[in-house]
Order: sequence, then structure tokens, then C-alpha cells
Amino acid sequence: MPELSSQISSAATKLKAGGIVAFPTETVYGLGADISIPSAVNRIFEIKERPANHPLIVHFSQLSQLDHWAQEIPRAARLLAKHFWPGPLTLILPRTNHVSLNVTGGQDMVGLRMPDHPTARALLDAMGPERALAAPSANRFGRISPTTAAHVFDELGHKVDMILDGGLCKIGLESTIVSFKENSAIVLRPGGIPLTKLAEVLDDEVFLSEKKQSDIRVSGSLNSHYAPLTPLEIWPNTSLWERCREIEKLGLHPMLLGWSAEFLTKIKNKDFMCFPMSNEPTAYGRQLYATLRRFDNGQYDRLLLETPPNNPDWMAVLDRLQRASFVPSRP
Ligand code: TXA
Ligand code: MG
Repeated sequence: MPELSSQISSAATKLKAGGIVAFPTETVYGLGADISIPSAVNRIFEIKERPANHPLIVHFSQLSQLDHWAQEIPRAARLLAKHFWPGPLTLILPRTNHVSLNVTGGQDMVGLRMPDHPTARALLDAMGPERALAAPSANRFGRISPTTAAHVFDELGHKVDMILDGGLCKIGLESTIVSFKENSAIVLRPGGIPLTKLAEVLDDEVFLSEKKQSDIRVSGSLNSHYAPLTPLEIWPNTSLWERCREIEKLGLHPMLLGWSAEFLTKIKNKDFMCFPMSNEPTAYGRQLYATLRRFDNGQYDRLLLETPPNNPDWMAVLDRLQRASFVPSRP
């Protein structure tokens, strides 16, 4: 395996020639294309099987480039960028002419992010100034985002020109997406940065968007998003057990994913297949996608998850679980 610096320069060369390179970020792996090459951007949509009107996030490495990609930037956006970049935060801002409409799905707003992963940063630096990478999560449309290079390889390996391996993503859930109404921040997708932290920095309230009222297209807000192939159900720990029996009576094989000491103790020494998840939201978020992939292997008919606590620290996890789950009309 060539050393990282030569892999990065080879990745940058491929990207500048219109290639597609998957690379690690601190949130999830991205599928990168140079935004100035329309054929490369189009290939991303083809590889992901994603509708062309779904906008891509533009990744870059220097805060000083912000005004190159966006204009009419609200004060609140500058504050958040300064405080949280590089990091798991995407800002939705009016685009400049340097970002073409095929990147933004035809919208005048662009999603911008400076990722915080040494490999992603080195790659963006190697691309040179005034270049940026469009990078949606490196999974097929509607599926779980990859948090290791092996996940990308399994799902898209034969379709991309190169995959840079940066190990397991330390956050494991996608970035927090923030849009602005005048100077107020509205969260379109909860993620790596909790709303409370945004509010602290802005010294102002931050709201979660009423998704249905939003006229901005966010593919992550489709209910089918982030789903494993195996049906996933979420149950409070008081009914999880019964649901498990119900599924078994049908001759089906459930896999339980619990997190509370109460449930894990109750289930101990029973005949059910159960995987213990973390009871801490950051660690739970980091392991969620990898765990869902692991058990989404055809061996189980249902994934039954214990409902996480309903508190703000768990907002991003809850959001992804709701999108990944299906509401069973029993059984
Ligand atoms: O953590 C992340 O954000 C990862 C890593 C690779 O950076 N990227 C990611 O990209 O999750 P993607 O394409 O899988 O999800 C990006 C979301 C989509 O739901 C898209 O609709 C939304 O961001 N988005 C991008 N540009 C937008 C815009 N101009 N207006 C509204 N939503 C936008
Ligand atoms: Mg995605």
C-alpha cells in the first residue's frame, strides 16, 4: 500500500481529471467530485442513483475561501463557521457563480462544509485553492451512510476510481445542517453538533425546522432515508420483549439492539439474539450505522431497537432511527 501522501496526490490527480474518489470525513465517508467538472458531478448522481434535483454539499479546507463559494452571508453563519469549522456543520447559504446549478440541484442556495478529518483536509489542500469537492455520503440513495472504507467498498467499490481509507469515522452520523432566516439559525438536519451548542455560540434560540413547511429540498428528510434492507422497528423497552416473542412465533428471526442496563439485564441468559449498544449518545451515534450494516446481512428478519431516551442529546440518533424504521401494522 503506497504511503498516505502519495495516495492523496494520486487521488487529487484523479479528481482533477474528472474522477470520483471516496474519502473519509469525521462524520461519514463522502463520494467526492471536483465541483468545477460537470461530468464528474453528474457521475455522482449516477453512482448514487440519486435524483438530480437533490443538492450536494460542497467541501473545502480554508475558512478564507468561504466568500468565494457563498455571498450575502448572515452574521450568524459567520459566527458558526468560525466556531465550528472544521467540523460536522453544513451551512446553507446563497451561492456565488463559482458553484454551478448542477451541484445545488438547481437552487440558488449551496450547502458548505469544512470537514475535520486529516485525510479529507489533506485531499482538499492537495486540490489547490479555489477548488472544492461535492461530496454526498458514499452510499446508494436511501441507504445507510458508510462509516468505514470497507462499507464504501462493499456498496460502491466497483463504481468509484479510488477509496481513501481513514479508518472508522469518529462521529458516525452526518453533519448538522443549518439554514438562516435573516439572522436566525434553523436546523434542517440534526447531526454532529447539538442544537444547544449552536445556541450557545449564537447566544440566541435555534429551532429545528418544521420539515413539512420547508420549501427547501433536503433528501435526508425523506422518510425512506438511512434505511437498512432488514425492516427495523423501534419499541420502548417495556414492549420490546413481547414484540420479540411475537416475531419469533411467526417463525421469523429477530435481532435485538438494546442500550439500557435495565433491558440488557432482563434479556441476559435468555435465548434471544441481542447486541448491547452504548447508553451514551455520542458513542451510540458512532456505532449506529456500522451496527445496522453488520446485522443487515440477510440473517435476521427484523431489527428490533430499544427506543433511545427522548432528550436533546439524542436528537440526531432519534432522527436517524425514525427515518430508518418502518411502522409495522402488526405483525
Ligand atoms: O456529514 C455530512 O454532511 C456528509 C459528509 C460526507 O460531509 N455528507 C452528506 O451528504 O451527508 P448527503 O448528500 O448525503 O446529505 C446532504 C444533505 C442532503 O439531504 C441535501 O439535500 C442537503 O444536505 N443539502 C445539500 N445542499 C443543500 C441546499 N442547498 N439546501 C438544502 N439542503 C441541502
Ligand atoms: Mg446521504
